[in-house]
Order: sequence, then structure tokens, then C-alpha cells
Amino acid sequence: MSSSKLIVGCLATLGLTGLTFAQEDASHEAIAKRLAPVGELCLEGQDCGTSASSTGGGDTGSGGSGGGDIDGAAIYDAVCMACHDTGVANAPKIGDTEAWSQRLEKGTDTLYTHVIEGFNAMPPKGGDPSLSDAEVKAAVDYLLDESQ
Ligand code: HEC
Repeated sequence: MSSSKLIVGCLATLGLTGLTFAQEDASHEAIAKRLAPVGELCLEGQDCGTSASSTGGGDTGSGGSGGGDIDGAAIYDAVCMACHDTGVANAPKIGDTEAWSQRLEKGTDTLYTHVIEGFNAMPPKGGDPSLSDAEVKAAVDYLLDESQ
């Protein structure tokens, strides 16, 4: 396996050299032709096929007001589930309707405030200060939706 890789590597080097210089050398030319697809791929792509498409992902940026397109479920999964899926430190578990109906008696606004500012063992913004208030609220909404 490794020796054949080595040979391919050498051929590739020869091939590229062949493309650049010794075009009149028949054997080099033959090699260059055989390797042309590989050579092109590397030359054109400049990174030999590892072109990483840079799709940003969760780059939500400054999440203005309204917040209609904020994915509360994704934020919950990323930040909140560590505690609220497991009930660690007596965190009310997601889906525990009884625990959450008691919490809801305080009113959703109080719950939002507690999550944004922190509440006992519940860290401010779930411990992720990069979340906007709107994102935190979306996560709370998701959590409550799943728990009623
Ligand atoms: C480090 C663990 C931890 C993380 C992470 C965490 N929580 Fe909590 N959360 C708790 C604990 C513990 C409580 C219970 C606090 C209490 O009642 O004393 C709580 C309580 C709450 C409450 C109820 C507050 C109240 O006033 O009764 C809400 C709502 C809540 N969390 C939402 C969230 C959301 C949304 C996230 C993610 C952004 C999150 N939590 C992340 C531990 C966590």
C-alpha cells in the first residue's frame, strides 16, 4: 500500500515537472498525459481537491429585535440541554410538565429574566454570554413548548 502511494507521488511529481518543462521527452510526456487529470485537479484547485466549502454555519451575528428566524431548538441543543436534558443541579428537565407548570406560575417574563440574568444554579444565558436576549428567549420558548 504505502509503496504504491510513494510511486504515485513520484509519478505525480514527474508529471507536474513534465507539464512544465520537458515536453519533448517522450516518456515524460506520456506520464504527463496519463496524469493530466490529477495534475489539472491540483493546479486548478490549488489545494489538490481538499477545497473546503466555507459554509459558516451557526453564525447568527447580531440578532436584532423581533427574532422570528431564530432557531430556539438549535440554541437549546447547543447550550441548555447539558443541564435541562439531565436535570443536573436540579435543573427542571425538558418535558417535565409538572415542574414547568410550577415555573410558569411566575410568568414567562420572569423566566426570561431569570435565564438572561441567571437564577441560583442557572447561569446567565445558560453560560453563553454571546447569546442575544432574543436568542435566549427563543430557547426558553422552545423549552416551554416541549414541556407543556
Ligand atoms: C449549568 C446548567 C444549566 C444550563 C447550561 C442552563 N440551565 Fe436553565 N436552569 C438550571 C438550573 C439548575 C435551574 C433551576 C434553578 C433554580 O430553580 O434554582 C434552571 C432553571 C431554568 C429556568 C427556570 C427559571 C425559573 O425562574 O424558574 C429556565 C426557564 C431555564 N433554566 C432555561 C434555560 C435555558 C433557555 C438555557 C439555555 C440558554 C438554560 N436554562 C441553560 C441549569 C442550567
